[in-house]
Amino acid sequence: MINRPQGMLDFFPEETEKLQYIENTVRDIANRFGFGEIRTPVLESTELFSRGVGNTTDVVQKEMYTFVDRDGPSFSLKPEGTAGVVRAILESGKYGDAMPLKYYYITNCYRHERPQKGRYREFSQFGVEMFGSDSPAADVTVISMADMIIKTLGIKKVDLRINSIGCPKCRPKYHQLLKDYFSDKTDRLCETCKSRLETNPLRILDCKSESCKAVSKGAPKMINCLCEECKGHMDSLCESLKKLGIDYTIDTSIVRGLDYYTKTVFEFVCSDERMGAQSTICGGGRYDGLVEELGGSHLPACGFGMGITRLLPTVSIPDDKKKSVTIYLASLGQKASEETLLIVNKLRLKGVSAECDTMGRSLKAQMKYANKLSAGSVVILGDDEISNGKAVLRNMTDGSQSEIVIDKIADYFTE
Ligand code: HAM
Repeated sequence: MINRPQGMLDFFPEETEKLQYIENTVRDIANRFGFGEIRTPVLESTELFSRGVGNTTDVVQKEMYTFVDRDGPSFSLKPEGTAGVVRAILESGKYGDAMPLKYYYITNCYRHERPQKGRYREFSQFGVEMFGSDSPAADVTVISMADMIIKTLGIKKVDLRINSIGCPKCRPKYHQLLKDYFSDKTDRLCETCKSRLETNPLRILDCKSESCKAVSKGAPKMINCLCEECKGHMDSLCESLKKLGIDYTIDTSIVRGLDYYTKTVFEFVCSDERMGAQSTICGGGRYDGLVEELGGSHLPACGFGMGITRLLPTVSIPDDKKKSVTIYLASLGQKASEETLLIVNKLRLKGVSAECDTMGRSLKAQMKYANKLSAGSVVILGDDEISNGKAVLRNMTDGSQSEIVIDKIADYFTE
């Protein structure tokens, strides 16, 4: 037997129904917020991620699925959605359109991580990106959208944690403080972080190695080094969140695993025990320098990514959103069986979900199957019913029965 790749999942209708419910919910809310859908390729030039996400991040250094194409260039499966969206904007000239640009996507992402519950090598992510505004109002817009989605999906025990990781004006001073702090502790850092100390000491704070995590605990905090502009931005964001009634805590340990962030960073963390160890269901922030980094002119931006695959254990489909079969037409004999095929087709054309037997099952087995489908109503057609032109319609919810003219069954049900 050939197995599926490690860390990747198959989804059968029981699970895809839930995925579709989540996708429909996020699309609906994205529309309400005025975000339009963008679709970009699953592959991008490797350079896009090494420059955009950052050469010293775990994602680029350790986790990308990279290969050399037949005709030469190196491509990588997208480990995240933001860099591809920025590339698309720059390439398409949308850059010149009226601002803000507001895009969302639902895409598979690929990261060669150590698989565990909630952490996969292929996972679905819902992301939003908003370009053009440097105002905290944009940060509030995307955070309140994530908050609304989480609440609408009924996910409980969720905390919003925010932090600021500064900007190119104040961060160099912080980098120096980190270098000073770690310089006499290098023996406790992993090999990757030893080199990060010179290139990008902020990344040490996000390393997954236990010894690096332990040393990082006492490290200086960026929030104490913010310049006036970054501090003002953070204060104003907090004020707006309070006004909107969105609870948050300031968590100075959040640095995010991708290099492009400036100022605001945030994560929604869920402590529902069904989640397992991977509790961050959504992460994002502001990335005012990424468009320039990838060759454009200055264009401030912010957004977030929400792990749809990771959300699955905490979401239940409300009863009124569950797929259901409106009517099951059971049949006895060849003639009735042919008749039921015609009637279900008429019903389906009208938009009604209808089923009939295609297995040649006994009546008892058909009724069992109708129950399994939770059919709302059942009609049994046999030779007598066909010759009388009438049958009994049984309402499966309240058990009531009524006579129905066979030719009128399709008219009786509406969408
Ligand atoms: P990220 O924090 O790397 O950010 O990923 C966002 C979310 O994707 C995570 O909070 C988590 O729910 C989910 N996720 C990440 N890795 C995995 C995995 N291996 N298995 C399952 N779920 C996972 C980004 O990707 C940024 N592009 C978000 C962003 C958009 N920032 C600004 N705009």
